[in-house]
Formats: sequence, structure tokens, C-alpha cells
Amino acid sequence: MGSLINKENDVKEPKDAILYINGVLKLLPNGLAHLTLLEYLRGLTGTKLGCGEGGCGACTVMVSYFDHNSKKCVHQAINACLAPLYSVEGMHVLTAEGLGNRKFGLHPVQESLASRHGSQCEFCTPGFVMSMYALLRSTKTPPTEEQIEESLAGNLCRCTGYRPILDAFRVFAKSNDLLYTNGSVPSQEPKDGEFICPSTGKPCSCGPTQETINQADGSCKGYKLILRKTSYLSLNGFGGIKWIRPLLLKHVLDLKSRYPDAKLVVGNTELGIETRLKKIHYPVFVAVTHVPELNILTVNDDGVEIGAGVRITELRKFLKKVIEERSVYETSACKAIIEQIKWFAGTQIRNVASVGGNICTASPISDLNPLWMASRAKFRIVDCKGNVRDTLAEKFFLGYRKVDLGSNEILLSVFVPWTRKFEFVKEFKQAHRRDDDIALVNAGMRVYLEKHKQKWIVSDACIVYGGVGPVSLLAVKTNGCLVGKEWNKELLQNSLETLQRDVLMSDDAPGGMVEFRKSLTLSFFFKFFLWVSHQMC
Ligand SMILES: Cc1cc2nc3c(=O)[nH]c(=O)nc-3n(C[C@H](O)[C@H](O)[C@H](O)COP(=O)(O)OP(=O)(O)OC[C@H]3O[C@@H](n4cnc5c(N)ncnc54)[C@H](O)[C@@H]3O)c2cc1C
Ligand code: FES
Ligand code: FES
Repeated sequence: MGSLINKENDVKEPKDAILYINGVLKLLPNGLAHLTLLEYLRGLTGTKLGCGEGGCGACTVMVSYFDHNSKKCVHQAINACLAPLYSVEGMHVLTAEGLGNRKFGLHPVQESLASRHGSQCEFCTPGFVMSMYALLRSTKTPPTEEQIEESLAGNLCRCTGYRPILDAFRVFAKSNDLLYTNGSVPSQEPKDGEFICPSTGKPCSCGPTQETINQADGSCKGYKLILRKTSYLSLNGFGGIKWIRPLLLKHVLDLKSRYPDAKLVVGNTELGIETRLKKIHYPVFVAVTHVPELNILTVNDDGVEIGAGVRITELRKFLKKVIEERSVYETSACKAIIEQIKWFAGTQIRNVASVGGNICTASPISDLNPLWMASRAKFRIVDCKGNVRDTLAEKFFLGYRKVDLGSNEILLSVFVPWTRKFEFVKEFKQAHRRDDDIALVNAGMRVYLEKHKQKWIVSDACIVYGGVGPVSLLAVKTNGCLVGKEWNKELLQNSLETLQRDVLMSDDAPGGMVEFRKSLTLSFFFKFFLWVSHQMC
């Protein structure tokens, strides 16, 4: 295979890299690939640097862009501290200043927080405001109180105890429809010919010209960003860093063959920690966010296929739709994934973090890897020459952050088969706190029961734990002991005994709390037994 990106017409000359910040167009110069969005925004002091690792939400901003796959405008909260500057190229970034201020008037979200004492030292306030605003912008109907709480899981406050913040935002649950999509209340009356940005409620240069109004269609008509074609980017940064954004899979593969050590990047939620906190230097980043082949979400006769670049938030939305449309028994694995995502990081991380980034990092506490393994998922891998191979998820994880992927290969997609009748998949996670925390122990469990002579016999089973070793652990002995046995109390007792031989942790195992973690592995299985038995009633 020759050099794909050198072929004539394959890659057009990059247009100027741009960004809108609070409605104002900014040209992004070359040379800034080492910067995060937060560093670029330093003049706007509302967006704070707290933890710098995606954990506190003080740096939350809202980005808006036109998703050419779904043909919709997307508005979402992200952590500016982990977002590489060039990852938001072509997007509109809204900060707390752009939403409202004392000079020109506060936005109702800000006003409500202030009047209900939801702000004390104010360090967390802009982040909470932006998370709440992004939720209002992205839900078609007024959010429920549960959705509001969930959207704030990625924001920490040291002062208020959260109650006044929740009280302040609760008023937006099923109240004034004008506060929701396509109808945010303009805080200023438009002058003649002036465009009021639906994102900020203020006059702004992201608005339409007559030409764009004539051309554009869809729910976001009129935005310049809708009509702007996404372009191939090749930019640099301090320390010789290259940031390349190809638009086609063949370009990704060619770049991987030219730069075998290049890091594919989607959400940067793992790489950002490695480069900024662990100070690991990666010279070439290939941003695959805009590659259609890596963003597929398809339903076929045998199951669902999920592109490696699909973001966790998108995956959840897609699976929710799938379970509405398919037979209940087919979607046990899909439901387990949806449930596990509920406890996966905060909204800001889930909005950018990808399925492939989570898999390829192979963290021993990944919340999803035990589920892919338990639910017989297959990973599709493609090499630089375009050769494709499939491997079972349970064979993919080789050791601590080590996967079955050559330097000339990338993960293309994940295939999750439908569950069969009387096949059940369930997720488990225990962390120090309920929301936005990494697991102490997690698990994915599957059992397939068949009736023989009036007895329910285990035909197939797969029990996988995270957080008990250097890699997601397949409980091989327990799986062997389950198959062929009747699903009854004796099986439960035998499995609990066998599990103790599967999960071996030394007293000084990394992470500590060894006895507690071991007991969690048993109690998860006990819960699974009860849950499956209940499904059979
Ligand atoms: C605050 C915080 C909370 C978190 N909470 C959780 C949690 O609750 N549960 C959990 O499981 N994880 C959690 N994580 C981990 C992280 O969010 C996930 O692992 C995430 O899915 C990584 O995706 P990404 O797109 O950001 O990866 P990136 O950082 O962009 O990439 C990660 C790695 O994957 C490689 N990669 C990406 N795509 C491909 C591909 N297609 N082929 C080959 N290699 C590829 C990259 O080169 C890189 O080495 C958390 C992280 C943070 C910062
Ligand atoms: S500074 Fe804490 S999440 Fe960004
Ligand atoms: S008001 Fe002080 S951290 Fe929230």
C-alpha cells in the first residue's frame, strides 16, 4: 500500500484552523499542539484550574458543533483541562463569561444559583453553571431531577454541601420550556440585522449570513459552523509535537505506518493524564474523532457493532434506543453496559472518552472491559495494510496495560452479540463513593441456561472481575465449575468456594483493602445468582 495521504486530491490543503469563543471567531495559529483548551482560555478567568485531571469540573465549558454523522448540533459539557486545544477546532466554546455576567445580565442558571446561595467561595460555580447549562441545551424535554443530579456528578464543591446547588437547579426540571433547546431566552433584544446566538442568548458572529440561511437546513440552520467543512489538520506544538487530524480511515492507517509510535487520540482522558501528570512525551498524535469508520453504530442480525472512536455518551444513547427496538431477551448485555455507564466517570468525561480509548488502555479497573469479555464481544482490528482480524475480547488483554495490538494495528470496532433466551448479563461496580469514582472492584457476569428434564442447567458462563489483578480477570475455574451444573443453591455454594481459588490477591496487593475486595468478588456473585434466579421466576 503506498502513501495514501500523498495521493493527489486525497488530502486537501488544510484551511485555517478556527474556533469560536463566546461567539467571537478566533484563528488558531500553528505551534500550539502542546496546549490544552484551558491554557488557551487563561484570559477568561471564569474557567478554573482545579485538579487538572478531569476530576473536579472547575474547568467545565460547553462546546457546540455540528455532527456530520448524526446531522445534528451537539452541545456538551467538557473538561477544558484535558481537552487538547486543537481537539475543539471548528467548534464553539462557551464559558461562564459568555453565558452571562453582571454587566449585561446573568443567565437564569447563574441567577438561580446566586439567589439560592449555591455559591460560597465561587471556585466551583462557573463549572456547575456550565454543566447545568449544557444539560438544558442538550435535552429536548425538560430534564428530570435525576438527570440534573447525574449531569453534576463531575463537579465538586468544597463549600456548600451541594444541597443549595441542587435546590437552585431543581427549578429547571420541567419548568419553563423556553429555557430548553432551540428556545433559549435571548438576554438582549436583537438590533436590526443582528443575530442572537441560540447558544449564548447574545449577539454573536457565529450567526448566519443570508447565504447560509438559504443553504442550510436541519435544526441548527444558520450556524456558520454547520456549513463549514471539516478539514484535515496537521499542526505542531512545543517539543516537536505533531497533531494530525485525518478524516478517513486509510489516512489513519497510512499515518500509523509512517509513525508506528503515533498515539491515536479521541478524548485524551487517558493520554492527557499520561502526558501532563506522568510527563510522558508522545511526539505524534493522530486525532481520530472525525473518521467515520471509527464512529459507526450499527445494528445487524447478530448484534451491535460499535466503532472504536464512539464516545461513551453516544454509546449509551444508542444502546438505549436499541433496547427499545429489540426483543427483551436479546439485549441483556446492552442493558448491563448502559447500567455500568451510569457509574462511569462524570458527564464531562463520558462526553469525550471513547470506547476504543478505554479498551486499548487496558486499565485493570476499566468498568467496561469485564463486560465486553463476559458478553462474548469480539474486537475488530485493522493493520496498516488494511488487513482485518477479529479477536475475542477475553483474549485481547494480555497483561498490565498490555493488549494484543501490534504497533502497525489499531482497534476498529467492537461487536456485541445479542443474548439468547435465558442468557443473562449483569454489571457490578463498587467504589469509595457512588458517583464519578474509579472502581475498587467491578465485574461483568454472564450465564446461559438451558432446560434439560425440567432442570435449568448452565450451558455456558463467563465471570470476569476488574480491580483484583493487573488485568481484567477471567474466573476460569469458576466458569468451568458452573458449566453443566443445575442452577440451584448447591451451585451457588460451590461457585463461591471456587471463586476464592480464582481470585488470588497477596496481602500487599496494589490498591490495599485486600480482604474487602475479595469479599466483594463473592458478594457480586451472590447478587448475580439472586438476580438471575429472579429473572427466571
Ligand atoms: C476523571 C476521570 C474519570 C474516569 N472514570 C472512569 C471510570 O469510571 N471507568 C472507567 O472505566 N474509566 C474511567 N476513566 C478512564 C477513561 O476515561 C477511559 O479509559 C476513556 O474511555 C479513554 O478514552 P479516550 O478517548 O479519552 O482515550 P485517549 O486518552 O484518547 O486514548 C487512550 C489510549 O487508547 C489508545 N487508542 C484510542 N483509540 C484507539 C484505537 N482505535 N486503536 C488503538 N488505540 C487506540 C490511545 O492511543 C491511547 O493510548 C476516567 C478517566 C478520568 C480522567
Ligand atoms: S481542573 Fe479539575 S476537572 Fe479540570
Ligand atoms: S462554592 Fe466553594 S467550592 Fe463550591
